Amino acid sequence: MKARVHPLRRPLRGERVRVPGDKSISHRALLFSSLAEGESRLAGLAPGDDVRSTARCLAQLGVPLLRGDGTPWAASREGIAPPARPAGSGQLPERDPDMGPDDAVVRGVGLRGLREPVSDLDCGNSGTTLRLLCGILAGAGVPATLVGDASLSRRPMERVAAPLRELGARVRTGQDGRPPVTLETGGALRAGGVASEVASAQVKSAVLLAGLFAEGETSFTEPARSRDHTERLLRQMGVPVVTRGTTVAVRGPARLSPVALEVPGDLSSAAFLLAAALVAPEGSSIALLHVGLNPTRSGFLDALTQLGARVQLDLEREAGSVAGGEPAGGLATTAQPLRGAELDADLVLRAIDEVPILAVLGAMARGTTVIRGAAELRVKESDRLAQMARGLRAMGAPVEELPDGLRITGVGRRLRGAEIDSAHDHRIALAFSVAALAAESPTVISGAEWADVSFPGFFDLLRSFGAEVELFS
Ligand code: S3P
Repeated sequence: MKARVHPLRRPLRGERVRVPGDKSISHRALLFSSLAEGESRLAGLAPGDDVRSTARCLAQLGVPLLRGDGTPWAASREGIAPPARPAGSGQLPERDPDMGPDDAVVRGVGLRGLREPVSDLDCGNSGTTLRLLCGILAGAGVPATLVGDASLSRRPMERVAAPLRELGARVRTGQDGRPPVTLETGGALRAGGVASEVASAQVKSAVLLAGLFAEGETSFTEPARSRDHTERLLRQMGVPVVTRGTTVAVRGPARLSPVALEVPGDLSSAAFLLAAALVAPEGSSIALLHVGLNPTRSGFLDALTQLGARVQLDLEREAGSVAGGEPAGGLATTAQPLRGAELDADLVLRAIDEVPILAVLGAMARGTTVIRGAAELRVKESDRLAQMARGLRAMGAPVEELPDGLRITGVGRRLRGAEIDSAHDHRIALAFSVAALAAESPTVISGAEWADVSFPGFFDLLRSFGAEVELFS
């Protein structure tokens, strides 16, 4: 599918907007409640393809889970079949008429209740699904092969396989350490300490999840502190998690209590809407409700301050009690001029998924924006540094690609329309849709449907705010 996004001719307006539920927290909510002893109720899960992949894999592992509107978790984008046999040794949970399509009930099977799947686990486009499941399956000693779509099949998996091997698991990766990843039986998991060269919440989570099953303390040390959703939700579910600097430890065998959880909105999705308002014509404004504001994740807001943007933040009181121990609040902003900024590695780690949209804002700012410490972007759903450099250049912004970042010469509102390919990457499709709003002529984005991975309904939402977008094949 293609999207033709026209330059905005009038102010963009959105009030009391809810963005999709946080993707990182949604994956964890489904995965961890599957391991709990009892029934968890999850509200406001991310509606995109990625979290659906997690739910589908869990169903294949025999976890009874029901989507709020009673519909099954659909097949993957690339058409691989849904679960080969009905989920669950037990019955599906009761459907609650008050539940919406983004809510779910999960009947946890405990640490020992997962079943061996009869077919490969298709993780679709989702690295979080594949990497976190590796940790769980290694811990549980459940043999399985995990596969992904074309983009996920190019991403590095040794970063999870190697630490799990250190703990005694038998894990095989495909060519050059990429998927498929196969967990074999026979590797009894031992507790232990693992150190990683990359700061990665996915690797950290895989190790800690495996550690829940092993006897004794399992710890993970990373060079800098990555997002801590796993630590917060495990604590919420009654598992003590100890943090010492950049080391995090759990003690197994653990017992997880079920939760009732309301997932806050995804700041990574909110970022596109805030950016759209910032670069839109004078008089534009966007106000968002109930967005997750976890400080290990909210570098985007600090980056906006550095770019000279003012954002209003209304922290919700006591939101943490229902949101998995996660702070949340409202965010609002208006169209304003931006200035170039230096965004360093510390900030980038806390805004890792927002770098594409920050690059767009840099191109719209006055002055030069330099982004460093972002080498990890080369192994996301696409090589995001290369994709952003290529696309922004096509739109007329001078961009120098650095090994670990970008140097962007801001051209203000003088970007021009271009033809952009999403490269199977939702954040590339979304970032260039925002850039297109402030260009001088229309932009056509091919592979626009990839936006659905994290933000289904994005183009409709833009239209409801006053943007002109045509979707065609
Ligand atoms: C995620 C962690 C980050 C992030 C990804 C989601 C998570 O990846 O980019 O979109 O939910 O743990 P890394 O852990 O590889 O940095």
